[in-house]
Amino acid sequence: MGASLQGQVAVITGASGGLGAHFATVLAREGAAVALTARRLEMVEALAGELAGQGHQTMALRLDVGDPAAIGPAFDEIEAGLGPISILINNAGVSGAGMALEMTRETFDQTFDVNVRGVYFAAQEAAKRMIASGVADREAGRIVNIASVASVTNLPGLSVYCASKAAVAMMTKAMAREWARRGIAVNALGPGYVLTDINADWFETEGGAAQLKRFPKRRLMDASDLDAALLMLAGPAAKAIAGQLILVDDGQTLPGGG
Ligand SMILES: NC(=O)c1ccc[n+]([C@@H]2O[C@H](COP(=O)([O-])OP(=O)(O)OC[C@H]3O[C@@H](n4cnc5c(N)ncnc54)[C@H](OP(=O)(O)O)[C@@H]3O)[C@@H](O)[C@H]2O)c1
Repeated sequence: MGASLQGQVAVITGASGGLGAHFATVLAREGAAVALTARRLEMVEALAGELAGQGHQTMALRLDVGDPAAIGPAFDEIEAGLGPISILINNAGVSGAGMALEMTRETFDQTFDVNVRGVYFAAQEAAKRMIASGVADREAGRIVNIASVASVTNLPGLSVYCASKAAVAMMTKAMAREWARRGIAVNALGPGYVLTDINADWFETEGGAAQLKRFPKRRLMDASDLDAALLMLAGPAAKAIAGQLILVDDGQTLPGGG
């Protein structure tokens, strides 16, 4: 176990499974107290219990980031339980899958409500608290928005998702510029494809199998491939990194064949 995040309090949204559950585990092992949030309370409670059993300081609570009014009260509860928030991993996301010709307004809105509005207002709420608590004065505030390769490249059947993740990359830059002077480093991590619930169905299809064959390494990534970049952006090393999108994609977005 490392200790680079000892004394930090990290909030992870969408920590009930997939990458969010992995990120929470990585941050806890690095010494941070972790608040695991998602809509499925029983799943964040189970992981928080497991991590607590390994000696980590944890909390689990229900938070639907699609409801902006729910974010403040959830962060109040976290700060009452663990202390001032110093790290936000803005991870909750949905795929909004569907071809553009058939896309419904409902799916469009639901996707933007979570992937864009949810990320924006969770970042705003975290930043306000980092400033109020003095975390930002110590240049210790860290916001890591989970973007995607979809922030910079088109993915099949994911026009709304791609638009939402491009928005995440740009809000990261804008917030980083506004809050750099205040002592909060805002950056984005853009993973390539890692097999999780968000894409498992797709990789069962012919289209998914064909896409996989076009990746330079003909494989999906492992969540642990993201650990080094996550820890860099969430830790002391990010003091002078502002508004960057760090892609960790196993070469999946590199053009060309071979
Ligand atoms: N897997 C990949 O290949 C990949 C690649 C690039 C980027 N990403 C991004 O990584 C993030 C995590 O995705 P994943 O692959 O881990 O997918 P996942 O396994 O489907 O997990 C998504 C998480 O987001 C949560 N979530 C969804 N809607 C929410 C809401 N309204 N409020 C709070 N939490 C919500 C889910 O929890 P509840 O259902 O319990 O709320 C779940 O924990 C997403 O932002 C995704 O876009 C994933």
